[in-house]
Amino acid sequence: MSSVIEFTFDDKELTGEKGQSIAAVLISLGTPIVRLTRFEKQPRSIFCGIGICFDCVVIVDGVANQRACLTQIRQGMSVRSQP
Ligand code: FES
Repeated sequence: MSSVIEFTFDDKELTGEKGQSIAAVLISLGTPIVRLTRFEKQPRSIFCGIGICFDCVVIVDGVANQRACLTQIRQGMSVRSQP
């Protein structure tokens, strides 16, 4: 059984290894900006990496406010940056 997981981030096809978080894959690919702040639209990325700061929230399969650093990639999942 393959450990390669295919998913999309903002409609871009990405791959990672089974067990990796969304954040781990995005960092490894050099795509760390995952959202903009609500009022000033400042870019945010992975900060704490342990689920505390919520700077990494993304939309996963249509569900907003999912922490990229705590969410493991799954085959076919759709991840979107959160404006
Ligand atoms: S990077 Fe802080 S909660 Fe994900």
